[in-house]
Amino acid sequence: MSVDSVLTAPAALAGPLTLVHAADDAPGWWRSAVIYQVYPRSFRDLNGDGVGDLAGITAELPQLAELDVDAVWLSPFYRSPQRDAGYDVSDYCDVDPLFGTLSDFDAMMAEATRLGLRLIVDLVPNHCSDQHTAFQAALAAPAGSPERDMFIFRDGRGDSGELPPNNWQSHFGGPAWTRITEPDGTPGQWYLHLFDSSQPDFNWDNDAVHAEFERVLRFWLDRGVSGFRVDVAHALVKAPGLPEWGGRADGNSSHGFPGHEAPMFGQPALHDIYRAWRRILAEYGPDRILCAEANVDPLPRLADWVRPDEMHQAFNFPYLHAGLDPHRMRSVITDSLTALDAVGAPSTWVLSNHDVVRHATRFGYNGPAPRDGDGIGPADAQPDEELGRSRAAAASMFMLGLPGGAYLYQGEELGLPDGIDIPDHKRQDPTFGRTGGERLGRDGCRVPLPWRAAEPHAGFGAGADPWLPQPASFTALARDTQAASPSSHLNLYRRMLELRRELRLGQGSLAWIEDWCTDSSLAFLNGSTAVLMNLGGDPLELPAGQVLLRSSTSAQHDGAHQLSSGETVWLEIYTEDTEN
Ligand code: NOJ
Repeated sequence: MSVDSVLTAPAALAGPLTLVHAADDAPGWWRSAVIYQVYPRSFRDLNGDGVGDLAGITAELPQLAELDVDAVWLSPFYRSPQRDAGYDVSDYCDVDPLFGTLSDFDAMMAEATRLGLRLIVDLVPNHCSDQHTAFQAALAAPAGSPERDMFIFRDGRGDSGELPPNNWQSHFGGPAWTRITEPDGTPGQWYLHLFDSSQPDFNWDNDAVHAEFERVLRFWLDRGVSGFRVDVAHALVKAPGLPEWGGRADGNSSHGFPGHEAPMFGQPALHDIYRAWRRILAEYGPDRILCAEANVDPLPRLADWVRPDEMHQAFNFPYLHAGLDPHRMRSVITDSLTALDAVGAPSTWVLSNHDVVRHATRFGYNGPAPRDGDGIGPADAQPDEELGRSRAAAASMFMLGLPGGAYLYQGEELGLPDGIDIPDHKRQDPTFGRTGGERLGRDGCRVPLPWRAAEPHAGFGAGADPWLPQPASFTALARDTQAASPSSHLNLYRRMLELRRELRLGQGSLAWIEDWCTDSSLAFLNGSTAVLMNLGGDPLELPAGQVLLRSSTSAQHDGAHQLSSGETVWLEIYTEDTEN
C-alpha cells in the first residue's frame, strides 16, 4: 500500500484514514522490541556502597522479565574514573570495581538468558577516558608519533601555540580542546574532546582505532550480548582539516540536533565503519543488533544509518523532543515511518533516557520545562507532579501503540519524576561544573530507584546513602507499593506491555484517524486497535468499540463512552462483522 493513501474507515470511524505504514512481518526480534534501559549506577545497590552494581541488576532482573520487556540495554559499567558516569572508559573489556567483576557480568548474562531477556551493552567509540592506557601512552610519546595518532592532537594557533587549533566548543560547555604539557615540561599540543576534557576523542582516520574496536565488539559478543547501543554514533569521524564551526559541538541547538553541515557530525566515512561492524555481528548469527545514538536531523538523514547493511535501529530523538504537541507528533511519526520504510528499517520510539528530564516531569508543566529541560533545580518553577504523571501515562500509552521498537528508561514504569532538590555539591554531571552551574545537567533523571517502601533508601540499597538524594515522593512510588495497587502506574505499564504483545502492535500498521487529528487530539488505527489521545480540556466522545485500556485508571467516566482530558485509550474498533 502506498504511503498517504486515504482509506475508508471502518463503519465505527466516521471520517477518513490516512495510511502511513503497513504491517510488517519481516524477521528480526528488534523490529518490534521493547528495550528497557538500565542505568547501572542507579538501578540497585546490593553491596551497600551507595552506587548500583551488576549483582543488584541480576537480583532484580526477574522484575524486568515480569514487566515483559524483550531486552535490557545497560549504560556503561566498564572500568572508568566516572568523570562522565562511565561514558569515560579506561578499559573497554573489564568491569569497573564500582559495579563488580567480569564474573558478575557473566552471572547477570546467565540470569538474563534464563529469564528470556536479551542484554545490549553500550559501546563508547567516539572517546575514551584520559586514564586509558592508549591516551597515557600518547601523552608520553612525542608529537607525530603513532601513539598520538590514536587521538586528535594538533598544534595550537598563535605565536607560541597558545590558542586552540579551532573554535569548536565542547558539548558540556567550554572549549573542545585542552593543551597538554609535553614530557619535557614545555606547553605542548592540544587534543580534541567533544565532551569533557577527561574524554579525548579517538582518531577514526587511523586503522589501529578500527582494529581496537573490532576487538571490543568480539569480546562482548563472545560473552553473549545481543548487541550494542553506539554512543554518539554520528560523531566518530571529523571533516578533513577540522574546519571552524560557529557553535557548540552539538550544533548549538537547544535539543542537540547538529546541523547536518556541522564538521564533527554525520561524515560519510562513518557508514563504512558501521558496515564493517554489521559484518562482524553477522558472524554471530542474525540476532545481534546495533542501535545508533545518532542525534541526526532531519529524519530522512537518519534513515542512512539503518540501511540494510548498516545499523539495525537508531534512536528517534525528534520523537522524544516532540512533546505533547499533536501536530509535531504527527509529523515526526509520519516522517519517521516514511523515511525508515524506504530503507526497510523499523522505527524506534522513546520518551525518556539518562540524558533528559524524565517525561513525567517535563509534562508537569504547561509549556516548556525551565532551562529548556537542561536540568531543573529548586529555584526553578516546579512541575505539577500529579499532572505530569498522568500525562506521562497518556504519552507512554500512545507511544506503545505505535508500530516499531520502543525504548523505556528505568523508573518510567513507576512514573518517577526527576530529582530536583539536589544540592550543588552532590551534582556530578560534568555539564554543571563546566558551565559554572549555569546548566544544571542530567543528574535529576539519574536518581537511584525506589524498590521497597519500607526499606532504607526505599530499597535501593541498605548501606551508604545513595550517590544522589532521592525525592521524598519516591517512597510512595516504590515498586512494591505499586505492585500491590491495581490502579498504579506500574500495573498500567504491565498491562500495556502485555496487551501490546498480544495485539502485535509493534508489528502493526499506522493510519491516521483524520477526524481525531486536531489541535488538541491525535489518533491512529493500528490493525483493529484505535489509539486515541485527548490533549484538550473537554472530554471527547469515543467511536464505537470496546475499550481495551485507558491511561487514566482513576478517571471518572460515569459509564459514558468518553475520553477524558489528558487521557489515551486503546479501543478495539467494531467492524461490520462484530456489529452484526
Ligand atoms: C551520550 C550519552 O548518552 C551521554 O550520557 C554521554 O555523556 C555522552 N554521550 C558522551 O559519551
